[in-house]
Amino acid sequence: GIRLFNKIADFRAWRRQLLLDSQTLGYVPTMGALHQGHLALVTSAKSRCDHVALTIFVNPAQFSPTEDLSTYPRTLQNDLNQLAALGPGVASAVLVPTVHEMYPGGIELDVTKQKGAFVEVKGLSHQLEGVTRPHFFRGVATVVSKFLNIVQPEQVFFGQKDVQQCSVIKTMIRDLHFPVQMNICPTVREQDGLAMSSRNAYLTPSQRQHALVVHKALSTIESLYRQGQRHAPTLIKAGTDVIDQARRQVQADGSIDWDIALDYLAINSPEDLSDISGDINPQEGGIVSTAVFVGKTRLIDNLLLDVE
Ligand code: PAJ
Repeated sequence: GIRLFNKIADFRAWRRQLLLDSQTLGYVPTMGALHQGHLALVTSAKSRCDHVALTIFVNPAQFSPTEDLSTYPRTLQNDLNQLAALGPGVASAVLVPTVHEMYPGGIELDVTKQKGAFVEVKGLSHQLEGVTRPHFFRGVATVVSKFLNIVQPEQVFFGQKDVQQCSVIKTMIRDLHFPVQMNICPTVREQDGLAMSSRNAYLTPSQRQHALVVHKALSTIESLYRQGQRHAPTLIKAGTDVIDQARRQVQADGSIDWDIALDYLAINSPEDLSDISGDINPQEGGIVSTAVFVGKTRLIDNLLLDVE
């Protein structure tokens, strides 16, 4: 069966034995409420490593005081059932540590009151998601560095769904010399194209329908690009139009107009996440990313154009 650990020291003892047995370890960090996106990371890790460990930890440091830390879905038993259903020996261990053990000096959501060690990745953390969530990537980089020190995997697995998170972590691993190989796995989608997310659980049935517009905007941009359109502002306008049109439809069917609100839709360089203001160079590629409010739920998605 799957080993479940609550104490970091117990997990470390298990990990040490793998090392003595020359068994490699792949690691998948999560906040739980597992869905097929997470499970695909586990399967991918198992294909490259002898054992796979996950962490399930809703990390306070990446939530602002106004965000959904207290209501974020916590479904541990269901998570463990889903991992077991992957088959015997796919997931070997799950570490579910306490906030107290992860943040021995305590953790304040108000950054001005925080104490202790934090990890910052400058230059990649304050555009796109970082505009509305200025301390988010500091929280993510901090907790991932803690977990890499605890888990000490040969390989770590992240989802393309959170493209800026991938850039931040990749740079952190490089700059802080974490001895780990990073893998990025494709975004797993529902049948109709909606990117899977633990936060999709917040959507009402009608919001779930409206949420499709996120994928539709990206698909529109993708087909224009395939047809030869390289001009980033033109592509952004086309995607924005899809969202605006959906808003008007939502209003016409009697629902409230704020059911859909575009936060951003941008095209950035895969190199440094800087805005591409002219043409996308197919040699360099571009990341199209968007955040859309559907009701109070903020959904993100992205599309890679000629990115290796
Ligand atoms: P969480 O949102 O639980 O996601 C855990 C991992 O699953 C991330 O690497 C994320 O990109 C990936 N993932 C989520 N939805 C996916 C999908 N539809 N397809 C493919 N991969 C998907 O991301 C976090 O947690 C946290 O920020 C964390 C890295 C654990 C740090 O707290």
